[in-house]
Amino acid sequence: MSDMPVVRCLYSRPSAEPTDRSVRQESPVDDSVDDLQGWYGVERPTVPGRPWVALNMVTSIDGSVAIDGASGRLGNATDRRILGALRAAAAIIVVGAGTARRESYGAPRKAGQRIAVVTNSGRLDATSPLFTSGAGMAITHERATVAPGIEVIRAGADEVDLAQALGQLGTRVPPGGWAVLEGGPSLNGGLLDLDLIDEVNVTSSPRLVGGGGPRMITGAQEADRSFELVHQLIDDEHYVFSRWVRRDRLGRRLS
Ligand SMILES: NC(=O)c1ccc[n+]([C@@H]2O[C@H](COP(=O)([O-])OP(=O)(O)OC[C@H]3O[C@@H](n4cnc5c(N)ncnc54)[C@H](OP(=O)(O)O)[C@@H]3O)[C@@H](O)[C@H]2O)c1
Repeated sequence: MSDMPVVRCLYSRPSAEPTDRSVRQESPVDDSVDDLQGWYGVERPTVPGRPWVALNMVTSIDGSVAIDGASGRLGNATDRRILGALRAAAAIIVVGAGTARRESYGAPRKAGQRIAVVTNSGRLDATSPLFTSGAGMAITHERATVAPGIEVIRAGADEVDLAQALGQLGTRVPPGGWAVLEGGPSLNGGLLDLDLIDEVNVTSSPRLVGGGGPRMITGAQEADRSFELVHQLIDDEHYVFSRWVRRDRLGRRLS
């Protein structure tokens, strides 16, 4: 662990609602955060009929989620530890087919963990490590043709019905199990349209990159969904890690 960046806490949500709504300058409340699993593996509230959805993304200061078409150069070791902590705690990983293809998804570290790849085209490579490992499965619609050997969840007549698909995923995860959503921007857009993003974990990478990389969410209708900051961490490489939860879904059992 000694070659890893040191992580500190900038903010941690108090258990009681603040009475003073003025802007505060936060000073570190925890000098050293070693147990990222403890911070990111917390129990999530339950929502009716589907698993809780926790988005995890990394962006540049200017909001791009890709350099040269991929996210790898935006992250650092702490970002990868947080990705690992979220994956370890989640019951399932959900990702868009564009991201799975572009980022060459393979099997997750946790034995038995599944990665559900959302696709309208059904264009998935059954010979890729993601599917030969048995970890991958497809989420598509009734009319799509998917390569033999890939397990498929079908929701929607001729395009994926994301709400129905999450409902079906919910029947496959244990009670209290939640989904980590790893993008990309188009899938996030579809989920935002339906208000199905419950939590956002975002790494702010300390760089401006310009270029034409997408934002975290593309293709969605303009919306105004408000979130509450749960915690904010910083490491000594100036990466900032924020965890936001959809307002009104925090600390409230919805089922
Ligand atoms: N910085 C980060 O944290 C991060 C994370 C993820 C991705 N990215 C970057 O984002 C870029 C990819 O963006 P993207 O928007 O193309 O990613 P994406 O959402 O993963 O992929 C788009 C594809 O996913 C499928 N899809 C998405 N929404 C769907 C829906 N509602 N119903 C059915 N299928 C759906 C479709 O696949 P079919 O074409 O097969 O129908 C669609 O063409 C890459 O540069 C990647 O590196 C960055």
